[in-house]
Amino acid sequence: MSDEILTEVIDRIGVARINRPKVLNALNLATMEQLVEALERFDADPDIRCMLLTGNERAFAAGADITDMTDASMVDMVQRNQFARWERIKRIAKPIVAGVSGYALGGGCELMMHCDIVIASETARLGQPEINIGVMPGAGGTQRLTRAIGKAGAMDLVLTGRMISAREALAMGLVSRVVPAEHYYEEALKVCHELCTRSPIALRLAKESVLKAFETTLAEGLEYERKLFYMLFATDDQKEGMRAFLEKRQPVFAGR
Ligand code: CAA
Repeated sequence: MSDEILTEVIDRIGVARINRPKVLNALNLATMEQLVEALERFDADPDIRCMLLTGNERAFAAGADITDMTDASMVDMVQRNQFARWERIKRIAKPIVAGVSGYALGGGCELMMHCDIVIASETARLGQPEINIGVMPGAGGTQRLTRAIGKAGAMDLVLTGRMISAREALAMGLVSRVVPAEHYYEEALKVCHELCTRSPIALRLAKESVLKAFETTLAEGLEYERKLFYMLFATDDQKEGMRAFLEKRQPVFAGR
């Protein structure tokens, strides 16, 4: 096993760091496989409450690895079915916070969009530049980006391939927060620490419900949300959270 994805556990946070600095964290097949395995391991670990996905200061990820694809035929691409791995990220139930500095381009931007909260350094540069190399986004860029920022912004980014700054991405609704460059990792970790104090089951259902909005009509989504809300009244965490509020103390959520 190589070390293209570095993992560590900090308190109850599973941290995964993309580690191919020489190629700006370009995502080759092995890297994606390791990443998905790491996230699934964290998801299955009852001691882990949330995950932090990050890269380095220069790059979160500059896209799918172009050297993997240059000479591939259409049949190669179909048989490789590389985006099946990305579907597995979609099924991760615990929250994933992205700490993004530098380039998040192409598959890197798409990977970022698979995360739930995005903390971006003000140095971040985001975009879907696939059009510049004769292709188009393939890991959800035309779909998630359009749902995240709307048609006008998505067409602009996908058809021109231009890069945008973190501030522009914030204004478009593509990232959650922008922080000074030196604080992006610390801030992302801080968000994770906050999530660790919340009810894990409520987090899980809340994430599921927000993601449902991408898949369904408003009426169906509202119905789904209501059912998940009622389900939480079968948990100890709901009783603990509401009683702690009335007793003017901090809740301690056991995840039951
Ligand atoms: N794949 C493979 N290698 C990459 C790469 C990628 N996506 N991005 C950067 N690299 C490599 C470069 O080839 C270079 O390697 P060498 O040192 O061996 O030459 C190294 O990383 C450093 O890159 P640059 O010298 O180009 O650095 P720069 O600062 O001049 O430019 C950049 C940075 C603007 C990000 C530029 O590297 C770039 O445009 N990269 C490609 C971005 C891109 O097109 N991404 C989309 C890929 S396709 C995709 O993602 C499909 C999908 O939907 C899943």
